Amino acid sequence: MPSISNLALAGLLAAGQGASASLIGAVQLERFIKQETPIALQGILDNIGPNGVKVPGAGRGLVIASPSKSNPDYFFTWSRDAALTFRTLIDDFLFGNKGLEPLINDYIYGQARLQTVSNPSGTLLPNGAGLGEPKYMADGSRYNGNWGRPQRDGPPLRAISLIQYSNYLVSKGQTDRVRDEIWPVIANDLAYVGQYWNATGFDLWEEVNGASFFTTQAQYRSLVEGATLAKTLGLPCTACSEAPQVLCLLQSYWNGKFITANFIQGSHNRRGVDANTVLGPLVAFDPAAPCDSPTLQPCHPRMLANFKNFVDTFRDPALYPINKGIPQNKGIALGRYPEDIYFNGNPWYLITLGSAEYLYATIASWEKSGSITITSTSLPFFKDLYPLGRVGTFGKLHPAYHIIKGLVKTYADSFVAVSQKYTPENGMMAEQFLKVEPFTPISAANLTWSFASFVGMNHRRQGHLPASWVPKDVAVPSTCVGSSVKGTYAPATQAGAPNVTIPCISNVLFQLNASTYYGENLYVVGNSPTLGNWDLETAYPLMSSNYTAERPLWYATIPLEMEEGVTELRYKYARQQDCGQEWIVEEVERVLEVPACVKDGSEEVLAERDEAFEGPGGSSGGC
Ligand code: NOJ
Ligand code: NOJ
Repeated sequence: MPSISNLALAGLLAAGQGASASLIGAVQLERFIKQETPIALQGILDNIGPNGVKVPGAGRGLVIASPSKSNPDYFFTWSRDAALTFRTLIDDFLFGNKGLEPLINDYIYGQARLQTVSNPSGTLLPNGAGLGEPKYMADGSRYNGNWGRPQRDGPPLRAISLIQYSNYLVSKGQTDRVRDEIWPVIANDLAYVGQYWNATGFDLWEEVNGASFFTTQAQYRSLVEGATLAKTLGLPCTACSEAPQVLCLLQSYWNGKFITANFIQGSHNRRGVDANTVLGPLVAFDPAAPCDSPTLQPCHPRMLANFKNFVDTFRDPALYPINKGIPQNKGIALGRYPEDIYFNGNPWYLITLGSAEYLYATIASWEKSGSITITSTSLPFFKDLYPLGRVGTFGKLHPAYHIIKGLVKTYADSFVAVSQKYTPENGMMAEQFLKVEPFTPISAANLTWSFASFVGMNHRRQGHLPASWVPKDVAVPSTCVGSSVKGTYAPATQAGAPNVTIPCISNVLFQLNASTYYGENLYVVGNSPTLGNWDLETAYPLMSSNYTAERPLWYATIPLEMEEGVTELRYKYARQQDCGQEWIVEEVERVLEVPACVKDGSEEVLAERDEAFEGPGGSSGGC
C-alpha cells in the first residue's frame, strides 16, 4: 500500500503535467479498492460450483461465467474464463489466502473431467481435438449449440494455471502428486498446443477465425513452462519443442506501429486494434524478464507503443462519448476493439482494469531491472505522461526514473478510478458499462472474469508478483516454420477423469430443405447422445450459412456416437421458434442405418442425408 506522502507526491508531479490526481481522489480510490477487494473475491466464489450461491447446479470446480441466464445467457463454463479466474485465485492462494486450496483442487478435478467430454469440437481420444471446445454446460456436459469453435487459448491458459500451482507443490516436496495427478492434465493441454498452434481457431472474443496474438502468447508461455516442469518431473514433453516456432509467430503480429491483434480468415472490417494485445502480456508477465525480451512483456517498447495506440483509439469521443474531454495523460474507459457491436460495443470492466494491471506490471519490471529505457518506438507513450521524456536509459539514480515511475503509477490508478466511477454502490461488476449516458452496467451481471480482473489488478498494484518463467536464453528462430507435433492424449484418471477410451464415431452429413424466417433455427434430435437423446434442449443445431431463397439449406456434418449396441438412428428435425414460442417437431420418425463407426478421429463423411422438413412452417412471434 503506498503511503499518503507517496500518493501526494505522485499527485503533485502529475498535477505539474496537467493531470488531476488530487489527494482526495487518491484517498477515495484507496477506499474503493479496500471495499471492492472482498466483494470481488466473493463475487468469484459465488460463481463456482458446487457451492457457489449464485450458480446452483454448477459442477464441482466449474467456474460459471455469470449467473445470467438470458440476454445474455452466460450460465456455462468457459475454459478461458475459468483458467484466467484460477490464475488469479492461485495467485491469491500463493500470496496468503490459504483457504482457497480446496477450491483449487476442485478446479483440477473439474478440468480433468471436462477434458474427456466429447463435444462438437471433437474428443480427447485419439487426437485431442475436443480440448479446443470453448464452453460446456454448467454441469460439465457437452454444449451442442452453434459457436465459434474451436478456440485454442483454453488449453494453454489452463496449463499455465495448473503449472503455477504445480510449481508450488513441487517446492513443498509434493512432486509425486504433481507427476501422478496434475501433470497428466497439463500434458494433454501441452500436446494440444504442440499439435494445433499453427491451425486456425477462433479468438478469445469468439468471433473471428484465424490466428490471435492473445492465443499465441499464451501458447508460447505454456510450452516453455511445460518444458521446465517436465524436466523437474523427469518426464518428456515432446510438444514443448515447438516453443521456438510459436515465439517466431508471436513476433509477426507487430506491424511497425502496433500489434495487429488477429490474422483473420475471410473478409472483415477490423483495423486490428484489440484489447487482446493488452490482456496477452498480462498472462505472459514475468517481472524478471528484460523489457526487450521477445516474449513481449508489458514493458516492451513495442508493447508500450501498442498500449498507447489501443488506448488512444478509445479516446475518440465519437466512438466512446463516455471518454469525452479526458486529457491524454488520464485513464479512460476501454472496450474490446473499436468495431465491436456486441451490445452496441461498450467499455468492459475487465479491460479497463486489465489496462491498469498492465501498467502496474510495467512498473514492476522497471523496479526489478532498476532502470527505464525509452526507445524511439516507446517515446510517444512516455511523452503523453512526461513531455520532457527523451530516448535513453534512466537508472534509479536518475531523477527521471522516479518521475516517470510516479507518473505511470498515477496513470494506472486513473484507470482503476474509471472502473470505480462506473461500479455501482454494491460493488457488483457486470461485463460492460454503457459508452453513452447513463453509463450504467450492461450485459452479463456479476461476470466472474470482471471480478477476477479486479483481484488480479490489485495483486500487481500491491506489488504481489508472479514467479519468473522466461529462460535466460530465449532466441527467435531466423525463419518461421509452421510445424506441428502429433500429440498423445490420455484421460487424467488420477485427477478424477473417467477412463474414457477412443469413441467410435460415424460422421454423417445432414442436409435439410426448410424455409425459415430470420430468428428461426433448425435442429436434429434423436436416439443418440450426440443428438441429445430426444431432449430438445441438447438437440444438434444445423447451420444456415449456405441458405438461399432457391435452396433453403440447413446442414451439419454430425459426428454421431451411438449407445453401445445401437446401430439404427431414429431422428426428427425440429424448428426452434423465436420469442420463446413452442418448438415445431416433425411427426415422422426418420431412420438411418448408421455406417460402421471409426476410431481414428477422421472427419471423413460416411453417409449423407438430403431431406425436406415435413410439417408446418413457423412464424415469428414478433417480439
Ligand atoms: C458475440 C460476442 O461478441 C461474443 O464475444 C460472445 O461470446 C458471443 N456473441 C456469445 O454471447
Ligand atoms: C464473451 C467474451 O467475448 C468471451 O471472451 C467470454 O469467454 C464469454 N463472454 C464468457 O464470459
